[in-house]
Amino acid sequence: MNYKEESLDPENWDEMRALGHRIVDDVMTYLEHIREADTNYPTKEAIQKITSSLPDEGYGEEETYEVFLENILPYTPYHIKPRFWGVVAGTGSPYGVLTEMLRGAINGGVEAIVADAYVNRQALDWIKELLDFPQDFSGVFTYGGSEANFTGLAVARNTKADHDMKGKGMQGQERKMVLYCSDETHVCLERSVELLGLGNEALRWIPTDDDYMIKIPSLRKAIEEDRMHGYHPFCVIGNAGTVNTGAFDDFRELRRLADREDLWLHIDGAFGSWVKLSETHRHLADGLESADSLAVDLHKWMYMPYGIGCALVRDRLAHYSTFAYRHDAEYIKSGGELSVEALSGAYNLALPLSRGFPSLKPYMLLRAYGKDKYRRLIQQNLDQIQYLADRLVGEPCFEILAPVQSNIVCFRYVEEGLSEAELEELNRGILAELYEINFWMISDTVSKGVYMLRACCVNHRSRWEDFDYLVDKMKETAIRLMMS
Ligand SMILES: Cc1ncc(COP(=O)(O)O)c(C=O)c1O
Repeated sequence: MNYKEESLDPENWDEMRALGHRIVDDVMTYLEHIREADTNYPTKEAIQKITSSLPDEGYGEEETYEVFLENILPYTPYHIKPRFWGVVAGTGSPYGVLTEMLRGAINGGVEAIVADAYVNRQALDWIKELLDFPQDFSGVFTYGGSEANFTGLAVARNTKADHDMKGKGMQGQERKMVLYCSDETHVCLERSVELLGLGNEALRWIPTDDDYMIKIPSLRKAIEEDRMHGYHPFCVIGNAGTVNTGAFDDFRELRRLADREDLWLHIDGAFGSWVKLSETHRHLADGLESADSLAVDLHKWMYMPYGIGCALVRDRLAHYSTFAYRHDAEYIKSGGELSVEALSGAYNLALPLSRGFPSLKPYMLLRAYGKDKYRRLIQQNLDQIQYLADRLVGEPCFEILAPVQSNIVCFRYVEEGLSEAELEELNRGILAELYEINFWMISDTVSKGVYMLRACCVNHRSRWEDFDYLVDKMKETAIRLMMS
């Protein structure tokens, strides 16, 4: 061979090390001053720089990092800022960033073969402990809540089918399989239902009551009607923290109904599961552990870097049989005879085969901060939302529009004499002005036909005064908009 051998390892490790130190310094400085960071929208120049053509000869590590520093980083900070209470978006943390670097260094592989297996199992055991789940639940880390929900529903579908779902798929069903959820359920569940081949018509959206909880009598009636029409009801989805208003279904009631009707109980507790760590709100999640499967994530209300979620499943064998390769994967066999432990490793419990050691970040972060730190943070966010709600109640110009159950408050600015349409226009105007200060500072939603502003706190950087700022800013903006 007459060409030089290639590798992506640097020729000069000291230069790479120096760049690494610089990046760590820059990142820590950025996070240290995130409170003061402006909301910037990408300039023409930045977009041009980002969208350059792919070079034959690379620009080099340093130059590429400069592009990141000058043209990407300044246009990203909004959801990690202290005054961000829009969509349920995680804030991450400085130590979280460092754990990502460690994960990158190890660069994943197939969990279950080396130390990875112990880390994975330990992190899952800690999560079960925090959520009061029995230790013998099966569990797998996923990219986030959507994948965790998909995983739970896949096991539900395969386990409850009348026929061999793995072999025959949806084409084998004689009775159409149907499942139930409240009309406040997150859209990712519908996507899972579609991707699982059930078709979104199989998902029955059941109305909620004034507390945004699924109406059990309506659910019962829907199941009865479906049975009468020859359908096969197989699963009910409960919500631990709805995305609109932070509501919780009654899991004990759902469990009783699921037992009576022979349904799988899947709970979407993407962020709300973590009320389990609070003294004041843990009762909302009573009965969570009675689920057959739970989707929870760690990148929202556990403040871990994206993307990390987790699916827990009561029936270990059902979980394993849903995802394990039906036909022998001959090329993996050469890794040696895998133990039973290894066979229930992560790559047999979710869609991906190759995994980037996802358990390392929950392992590192849970170990570093311990139960009490997370308990205090969750409690703080719940208290902060209650504080905001109390402030809004104290101002005659605001109206709370949904019961404040957990970490979300829905409200609007009101002014006597304005019609519903004018009120909506005014509130939309307030929101638009807040976005100029910090994109998605709060968000809006429509629930039960009413347009609402919405603040949701999963932010460990928020301080009490930030909520005073929000209330004052909204008042000031509303008055200005009404006068203009
Ligand atoms: C209640 C709920 N379920 C599921 C999801 C989807 O989770 P992810 O964004 O991690 O895929 C979200 C996202 O906000 C959510 O709020």
